[in-house]
Amino acid sequence: MAKKKLVVLTGAGISAESGLKTFRDSDGLWEGYDVYEVATPGGFAKDPQLVLDFYNMRRKDVAAVEPNAAHKGLAELETDFDVTIITQNIDDLHERGGSTNVLHLHGQIFQMRSVKNESVVYEIRGNINLGDLAEDGGQLRPNIVWFEEPVPMIETAVEVMRTADIFAVVGTSLVVYPAAGLVNYVPYQIPKFIVDKTIPYTQSLYNLTAIAKPATEGVKDLQELLKKYV
Ligand code: APR
Repeated sequence: MAKKKLVVLTGAGISAESGLKTFRDSDGLWEGYDVYEVATPGGFAKDPQLVLDFYNMRRKDVAAVEPNAAHKGLAELETDFDVTIITQNIDDLHERGGSTNVLHLHGQIFQMRSVKNESVVYEIRGNINLGDLAEDGGQLRPNIVWFEEPVPMIETAVEVMRTADIFAVVGTSLVVYPAAGLVNYVPYQIPKFIVDKTIPYTQSLYNLTAIAKPATEGVKDLQELLKKYV
């Protein structure tokens, strides 16, 4: 019998216990930086090296940490379910934690591209600096979706949501669109779960189980609760 489709939408909260800052918690990334300055096309145009350095630092941060029990727990669910992870995170902790089907809505920190062409993507482990050019002569930039930029994978994500038999949200404040709007595309009656240390407002998601715990504990509870759907 085919495995049930489990779709999991994740955000910065799932990587918090690995040691990566979230955005909107106290001491979050957006407390230390002006979002406009470091995560918009306007900011990049104004001071490209500042933006490149912001992501050079985040690339170092991600390289220095490990996936946590929440990432690994979601990967373990692939034994019994057809799992798709739709993440807003630019880190590679889902992949390093063992998940094999990950869709990055906001890009990936170890990828870069030319400012001229978003379809040719290069791997990058070190720094990108002003003057580093792609083959097409364009300045290289992180392959990250900044605010005010379109989210190329959103249509794919919507289609994945529509096919879900079970839906879970882990570690996102659900305040950034279009990602947050994905919760409206899952079939109305399917079982839904939210794992977050502080459950975010979710209008009126039907058939919802809220697990108000840190992700490393809450995902273990989720794994237990999902056993009855195998
Ligand atoms: N365990 C579970 N949940 C946690 C934990 C934890 N240890 N720590 C924080 N959280 C939760 C917070 O309660 C919050 O709901 O994770 C969520 C983090 O929210 P944000 O900081 O807003 O991160 P996220 O939702 O991923 O932001 C979405 O905004 O800045 C843009 O592009 C960026 O992808 C990002 C998007």
